[in-house]
Parts: sequence; structure tokens; C-alpha cells
Amino acid sequence: MTAENKIKSDAWVLYQGPEEGGVGSLVREEFEFSGISDGEVLTEPLYGCWEGNMSHSIERKPIDIARHRGEEKVVIGNAGVVRILEKGKSVTTCEVGDVCIVFCVGKVDRRGYPEKILGYDAPGTMGVLSKKSKMPGHSVIPIPANSKYSYEQWAAFSLRYVTAWSNWKAALSCWKSQMDGVDPSQEYVLAWGGGVSYAEALLAKNEGFNVVMVASSDARIAALEADGITALDRREFSDLKFDPVAYRKDPDYKARYLAAEKLFVEKVREFSRENNIAILVDFVGLPVYRASLKVLARQGVITTAGWKDGMVLTNFRAIECISRHIHVHTHYARYSEGLEAVDYAEKNGWMPDLSRDKVYGFDEIMQVHEDFNTGKIDTYFPIFRVND
Ligand SMILES: NC(=O)c1ccc[n+]([C@@H]2O[C@H](COP(=O)([O-])OP(=O)(O)OC[C@H]3O[C@@H](n4cnc5c(N)ncnc54)[C@H](OP(=O)(O)O)[C@@H]3O)[C@@H](O)[C@H]2O)c1
Repeated sequence: MTAENKIKSDAWVLYQGPEEGGVGSLVREEFEFSGISDGEVLTEPLYGCWEGNMSHSIERKPIDIARHRGEEKVVIGNAGVVRILEKGKSVTTCEVGDVCIVFCVGKVDRRGYPEKILGYDAPGTMGVLSKKSKMPGHSVIPIPANSKYSYEQWAAFSLRYVTAWSNWKAALSCWKSQMDGVDPSQEYVLAWGGGVSYAEALLAKNEGFNVVMVASSDARIAALEADGITALDRREFSDLKFDPVAYRKDPDYKARYLAAEKLFVEKVREFSRENNIAILVDFVGLPVYRASLKVLARQGVITTAGWKDGMVLTNFRAIECISRHIHVHTHYARYSEGLEAVDYAEKNGWMPDLSRDKVYGFDEIMQVHEDFNTGKIDTYFPIFRVND
């Protein structure tokens, strides 16, 4: 197979939208792409895991990714497990026949950190929403031979756990830079968000911290408690959605917000025996940022790679300086961190339990999108099958 050969595959395709924007949809059709070059692999995606960027792409929010990439149509999907069908002669990361996680880096900086994501904003890349897909050799990591975990679990792991690994590693080093020698068993970690925050909560627990995660369904709360993580039910403070404009202009909103914030602070202090939070994992953003800073301990770290619900944030620099708060921002991971994460997961059982979760079929892709967006799914890891 050479780059001149054309490959045709059954795929879900996202077309570029009109200049004025608007929500798009995926279209099932035959997608044609050129054969692999020396540095690429031809893959057969087995499972994918739905995640926020896939929904953002369809909604064309914040950007129309096909337009941004200068392409008429694209195949998205940056989390999953693929089998290697062919490899170019300079690929050293895998062998034909290997089953690999997608390591969704499209373009890296000169130190190997990702700038653009495969199957999302990196031009010319293909994701897993296709029965066949080609990827750079550095975008796959083989699953350990005789792994104890299923392909579905590795598909869940591929994006969210790898992001969590890199983000937690940076956050923990930052915390230790000021608190070295402090015993984690006397300290508290709080996580807001979904699958990435959950994976970090598990790492924090393994490190010896006392961990609480905020969630809003009975099933999630039960699952967290089964993992030894304390759950905070955010339905009890559902008005905790900070909106700076309403806060200034609407006294009713302000009163409701402040009551919810007060309750949240009380609940956190109850959990932390009147201490504050040493490391706060926040993938939500604006609605919870103000309350998060309120419960962050001196020398505390607030850490993120996501902005689920608002990314323009304000803080009082003097207060942040005096409190010696460290703000950590990361984006996915370097290849070496992906390898570390896979190795740690296999050895330490750092893997989600998906035994009770539905696996969607390839025909049901738009259903996964809808169920994910409307919050109908209890799992943090909505899995879909691409090939049997
Ligand atoms: N930069 C990167 O490398 C990277 C990698 C992965 C993800 N991300 C981004 O990180 C964010 C989180 O992704 P994820 O996959 O971990 O989570 P997710 O599956 O998108 O789920 C987010 C969860 O956050 C909670 N939530 C949503 N709105 C909330 C609010 N206003 N207040 C409190 N909680 C709220 C909800 O859980 P409950 O209802 O149970 O509370 C929701 O299920 C997304 O924006 C994603 O695009 C970035």
C-alpha cells in the first residue's frame, strides 16, 4: 500500500458548516482517503469512547473544526482502541496485528507536548468514527500483551486517563514544591467534572490523600463510594453556577448563588475536618471557579486541562499570591507520559469498571452523542463499537 492508493471506508463524517456557524450532524457515508505514508499506520478501530470534543465538533462550538482545518469534511473521534492492519517502514511504535490505544496527538511542540489533537483540530488527521482509519505511528500505543483489561476499558482509558496522568503529575509536583514532607494522609483533594477528574481522584487516593468528588446522580455517587472516594451530591447546591453578569445585576440570583456557595463550603469543610483542599481538580471552569478558590488551602494547587462550562475566569491576583496558590494548566500528554500511564494502569488496576455499562453499536453513534449531551448516561465513559 502506498500513499497513491485510495482506501474507501464506511464512516461517520462531519462536513464543514456555513460561515455563520450553527449545529452540524454526522453523516454516514463512504469516506475515501489516501494510503499510508512511511510514518503512518492503517488501522481498524475496534472501540471508541465518546468525549467532549466530539460533541463540541458536531455543535461547531467553539469552532467549526472542518473549516478551521481547511477541509470539506472530517472524521472525528480521538479516544479508542485500534488494530494495526499495515504500517509504514519508519514506524517503530507498534507491529502489524497489535491492538493499541489511540494516543491522540496530532502536532507537538519542540519538547513533545501536544498542540493539536488527532481526530479533532489537527489538519489531515482521521479519528475512530470509521471502519478503517490511518494515523501517524506516534498516535498509537500498544496495549500490554495479555492485559487483564478489556478493549472497552482501554478505549475508556485512552484519552481521559492519559490526560489525567499528565495533569495529576504536574499538579502533584507543584504541590510538593511547597509542601514537601507533608503527609498526604493528612491532606484533602477535591475533584469536579467527569472522566478525567475521576481518573485523577483515583490517582490522588493511590497517593494517600483523602479524596472527595462532586457528582450529580445516584449511580455515580454509588460508584464513587464503591471506589473509596467520598461523593458530594451537587444536587444539594444546584444554584452553585457562578455567572458574573447575573451576580452584578440580579439580586435574587445573587442570594441563591451565595446560599449555595455557603452550603458547598460547609460540606467541604465537614469532609476535610475544617481544613481546606490541598489539590483541587477542576475541569468545569467558570460556574465553580470562585467556590473552588474559596476552599483551596494555603499552598494549594488548582489544576485543569478542561473548561466544560466556561473558560474566561477572573481571580484576585493579590489573594492568589498571598495564599501561594499554584494554578496548573495542561493539555493531553507527551508520548512518554502515555507509555508511563499505560504501564501504571496495567500494574495498579487504574482502570474504570464498565461491567454494568451499555456498549453502543456503530449504527447508534448519533444516539451516544444525544445521550451524552442530555446527561442520560451514568457512566463517565460512553463506549461504542466500530468493528467486531
Ligand atoms: N485538554 C485536554 O487534553 C482535555 C482532555 C480531556 C477532556 N478535556 C475537557 O475537559 C472537560 C471535562 O471532560 P471529561 O471527559 O472529564 O468530562 P465529561 O465527560 O465531559 O463530563 C463532565 C461532567 O462534569 C460535571 N459537570 C458538568 N457541568 C457542571 C457544572 N456546571 N458544575 C459541576 N459539574 C458539572 C457533570 O457530572 P455530574 O453531573 O455528575 O456532576 C458532567 O458529567 C471537557 O471540557 C473536555 O473537553 C480536555
